[in-house]
Amino acid sequence: MEIAGIDIFGGDYTPDPTNLHNIVELLLTAHIYNQSETLTEDDLPAEIRKHYWDSAGKTVKRPISVRVQDVTSLYGSNNAKQEIKALPFIDFDEFGAEIRFTIPALAKDWFVKQEDAMDQIRMNPVLASFYEESGIGVSYKEATAQVQPKERDREYLNSLVAEIAASDDDVDLLTLVHLIAPEDVRQPMDEMVLTPDQEAKIERIMQAIKHRDYLRDIGLREIGKMLFIGLPGTGKTSAARALSEKLSVPLVEVRLSMITSQYLGETSKNVDKVFELAKKLSPCILFIDEFDFIAKTRMSDEHATLKRAVNTLLKAIDEISLIDDGVLMICATNHPNLLDRAAWRRFDEIVDFPLPNTEMRKKIIDIVLSRVEGDFDTQEIAGMTEEFTGSDLRMVIREAVLRSLTENRTAITQPDLISAVDDFSDRVRLMMMEYTTA
Ligand SMILES: Nc1ncnc2c1ncn2[C@@H]1O[C@H](COP(=O)(O)OP(=O)(O)OP(=O)(O)O)[C@@H](O)[C@H]1O
Ligand SMILES: [Mg+2]
Repeated sequence: MEIAGIDIFGGDYTPDPTNLHNIVELLLTAHIYNQSETLTEDDLPAEIRKHYWDSAGKTVKRPISVRVQDVTSLYGSNNAKQEIKALPFIDFDEFGAEIRFTIPALAKDWFVKQEDAMDQIRMNPVLASFYEESGIGVSYKEATAQVQPKERDREYLNSLVAEIAASDDDVDLLTLVHLIAPEDVRQPMDEMVLTPDQEAKIERIMQAIKHRDYLRDIGLREIGKMLFIGLPGTGKTSAARALSEKLSVPLVEVRLSMITSQYLGETSKNVDKVFELAKKLSPCILFIDEFDFIAKTRMSDEHATLKRAVNTLLKAIDEISLIDDGVLMICATNHPNLLDRAAWRRFDEIVDFPLPNTEMRKKIIDIVLSRVEGDFDTQEIAGMTEEFTGSDLRMVIREAVLRSLTENRTAITQPDLISAVDDFSDRVRLMMMEYTTA
């Protein structure tokens, strides 16, 4: 086999060219990163950065060394040893299992001649910084725009959290909240089907975040507290998560019933802790679910500690600010009618999550079915599913897919979907029956 003019493989072994490129890219990236003090961890492609992440230092420490197990864990290549041996400019240390260049210049020439090398360089600022000088039409600046910032990484969030946990003697804090890194979000904003009103409000908050300094300068601080209202399954939680993905900031999810039920006596303290955590993770989104919980405690004849906790919560909401603290607060409720004026007036943006109309239902169905094979008419299904939420539609589709699988098919059909809708409607009828006789 001949690669860029060098015949390097004797015998039967045929290496996988993609693997080979990846290994050399990794070695080159490590080599250049190790030599240049001006490059930072943000210049590394996300996968490499995540792999070499140093939690305590919150960076990727120099020197990066490349070992066989790094190649295996990064690219899943089991033949790393053999493939590495095949390249003449790579030195392989059997004992330490460390891989090094013998003649880096040769590796640099070899790499740039490979098919797809330009694409790899354009996505890798470390490489682009090196090859930019050789005038092959790549730019460091353009490459940096291709790399996701470290703030999206689960590893980055974990190291922030580890630091906070270490400085706090109360380890329970992390049992109160659910932390989500932007890269963990499964449904990005462009897979959410939103009403024009929802889109406009989300756009507005994005603009406010972008111009945070300006808003602070002119003293406009009453911004950045949103209340999401809507029936269960209309997309409130998904939209908050998608926003975290879009803004590349972590999401701190709290359920009010959790804070109170587990640690009743400590509720006020817990509320304060959650807000402290959000400030420490700033910029971030603090998502408080089941917000109507505060109303329930006020109406019923609850424990005095709970009432105190509600006051603590309202006060904490007053005191936190997107403009000053970098915390966007989103609360969500299925029961907006339970909230009194004191709660309502704390939000500058109320976002309604209505039941999807026919057009939205079709879009949701199309998105869920986008990777499912089959012959079906989603317009017809959208027409049959009046009053279904996004979550109901997902359940219907799951049902249809399972139905086809039990018949040993992966392609679904229109009858699969229609029977799934019928079953679901039956289910709703049963649920209502139980409800009325209870
Ligand atoms: N408008 C929508 N566009 C796309 N997907 C949606 C939409 N509404 C709901 N879904 C889907 O339905 C599921 C449930 O949505 P989600 O959990 O966000 O609802 P919710 O409003 O937070 O419900 P709850 O009040 O019960 O917490 C998610 O998997 C989501 O993908
Ligand atoms: Mg929810």
